[in-house]
Amino acid sequence: MIGRIKEVLANAQPEETVTIQGWIRTKRELKEFAFIEVNDGSSMANIQAILNTDLPDYTTLLKQLNTGTSVEVTGKIVPSPGKGQRIELQASSLKIYGSSDPETYPLQKKRHSFEFLRTIGHLRSRTNTMGAVMRVRNACAAAIHQFFQDREFLWVHTPIITASDCEGAGELFTVTNLDLNKAPKTDNNGIDYTQDFFGRRAYLTVSGQLEAEVMAMAFGNVYTFGPTFRAENSNTSRHLAEFWMVEPEMAFCDLTGDRELAEAFLKYIFKTVLEKCPEDMEFFNKRIDDSVLATADNIINNQFETITYTEAISLLEKADKKFEYPYNWGVDLQSEHERYLAEELFKKPVIVTDYPKEIKAFYMRLNDDNKTVAAMDVLAPKIGEIIGGSQREERLDILESRIKEQDIDPQELWWYLDLRRYGSVPHAGFGLGFERLVQFMTGMNNIRDVIPFPRTPLSAEF
Ligand code: 4AD
Ligand code: MG
Repeated sequence: MIGRIKEVLANAQPEETVTIQGWIRTKRELKEFAFIEVNDGSSMANIQAILNTDLPDYTTLLKQLNTGTSVEVTGKIVPSPGKGQRIELQASSLKIYGSSDPETYPLQKKRHSFEFLRTIGHLRSRTNTMGAVMRVRNACAAAIHQFFQDREFLWVHTPIITASDCEGAGELFTVTNLDLNKAPKTDNNGIDYTQDFFGRRAYLTVSGQLEAEVMAMAFGNVYTFGPTFRAENSNTSRHLAEFWMVEPEMAFCDLTGDRELAEAFLKYIFKTVLEKCPEDMEFFNKRIDDSVLATADNIINNQFETITYTEAISLLEKADKKFEYPYNWGVDLQSEHERYLAEELFKKPVIVTDYPKEIKAFYMRLNDDNKTVAAMDVLAPKIGEIIGGSQREERLDILESRIKEQDIDPQELWWYLDLRRYGSVPHAGFGLGFERLVQFMTGMNNIRDVIPFPRTPLSAEF
């Protein structure tokens, strides 16, 4: 039987015969025999196979066993005399699937920089760090589904192509099949999208929220988890043009319920991933950021701080620190402010609520002060904003005037407004940036290194 290396390393007993398949990480040749270390992506650890000179065609075989070569090895499990592993594999047969030229294969033994690895996006997943990232990413995604499924939230699939700009920030990618060189024109020389595929201008979604609200008004508690797109020209270590977002939406729920869900949600994911991927998490703690495990422990065991935006501004005023950007009441918090609050002041996630209405999206519920909205951002140490959410405006007249205030055409949102005409209820939800979560969890510095194929300005090759 062919075993996954993780499974073999954990459970195989001496004298058992096993077969493994994978890619060679290293080879060491001695006089009497050679060692190869093989990895199949199932775990950080490689299995060590011993090749004796009596293997058929030993000498020619050995020449081809280079880093990157794909192999199948069958042999007997033996206790390992070496340190750091319980067992090894005494090879009785070895098959090469594909060779790998050591002169040109870019992944050699030495440690490569993450910048360099991004230039070989098709191979970098074969490194220790990327392997650990992808396994943790997978465990995060599984934990997210488990969390919501355990609570009877319905997983709904919101569209990727949409006609509305949920966030009103104008960071949309247009989806068209018009030939841009000879696109039909309107009277004032714009592109005539009525002749486009959808008969109107369509975009890649920036958020599944509006459609999730539709579904929440039928099913109560729902969530969507899918790719979202923003043509934000910000080349930072926290922004992608294509990223995944998790968006729960709850009917009959206010901002307090929303906050509580967000906190329970993050705690659950951290706890589950620590249980599922202990070796990978230890690796991050050792090799990437030595506060990773302490951060996880802090998230799981301490209550998050909650402050209002107004309190946040006065805390910034009191801070003994120079900020690059101004922070008067009414101005959006910059990443440096968010990080100061979470990382330096409270040293744990901080939930900031009740932002000025001018800096938040049209759908957020207006507070009684007429100045702020029932918004909440969860700010994480090192990352800044990781979750953005709010209670939604369920009152038709107020929503209509907020839409006008923000210069949005109410016609475009007629169906969204209808939700307030027929059986409207208080409701709330949030969006978690999935890659920011994985960054937070692993301590990885750059968001491009926690997604298999990052999409950023001027970069979409792999
Ligand atoms: O705060 P945002 O813009 O909120 C929304 O889109 C709401 N419609 C969510 C909701 O209430 N259902 O985005 C939510 C989160 C941010 O907190 C951040 O973590 C992440 O998405 N995010 C990005 N992640 C990577 N790259 C980008 N360009 C991101 N923009 C936002
Ligand atoms: Mg936000």
